[in-house]
Amino acid sequence: MSKKIPTSRVDKLLGSMGYGSRAEMARLGKAGGIVLDGADLTDVSRRIPVTPDLPSRMEIDGEPLDPVPGLVILLNKPLGMTCSHKEDGALVYDVLPDRWRRRDPAISTIGRLDKQTSGLLLLTDDGDLLHRVISPKRHVAKVYRATLARPLNGTEGALFASGELVLEGEDKPLAPAVLEVVSPTEARLTVTEGRYHQVRRMFAAAGNHVEALHRERLGGLTLGDDLAPGAWRLLNEDEIASIFA
Ligand code: URA
Repeated sequence: MSKKIPTSRVDKLLGSMGYGSRAEMARLGKAGGIVLDGADLTDVSRRIPVTPDLPSRMEIDGEPLDPVPGLVILLNKPLGMTCSHKEDGALVYDVLPDRWRRRDPAISTIGRLDKQTSGLLLLTDDGDLLHRVISPKRHVAKVYRATLARPLNGTEGALFASGELVLEGEDKPLAPAVLEVVSPTEARLTVTEGRYHQVRRMFAAAGNHVEALHRERLGGLTLGDDLAPGAWRLLNEDEIASIFA
């Protein structure tokens, strides 16, 4: 069955993408600031199909239209940024264009990384996708590289794989997780849950301390080498599907 293509009034679409109010969009259209398929679009009450190729066909004030709703962003989260819309200090949303703060539906992180954790972070305005990725039923693997304060003692692999480890302050045991030793003080840990400070608390339960934590992979999606810390890019459909591969 083919998917129904959504349509929207131009002023409503641009308003929901943070470009401005309906009145502002009407003025912009009249002034020739909205171009669709090479022609001025002056009637902003016109309904148009909202297709992913719109940014290559539509210009606002001479610039390509922002990505249409349903976008997924891959960010290499740097250290020191918080996954929150409203805390003080540097936020992950600060790396995105300012206008995107006004998008409706809003862009949110898919799960969270601590302020002092770096690496692969997804953001989206697609609520269904967000819930599918974080749902414990999906068992999407999250792979972290941890640098430890003290050498591994050899018991951690069995402890984390046991399915019996209960974190301090909790009742429910963690699902089995896989430890790969990288060096005496470095390990790669694959978990399928997203409990609060999970990796740091797992190593604390094993008598160690995580000094640095970096997420390398989410499901079948890796961060790759082409995104510097703080850099981001949009994911294509195949990449989004690879999260569940
Ligand atoms: N586990 C943690 O302890 N911190 C993170 O940011 C992610 C997983």
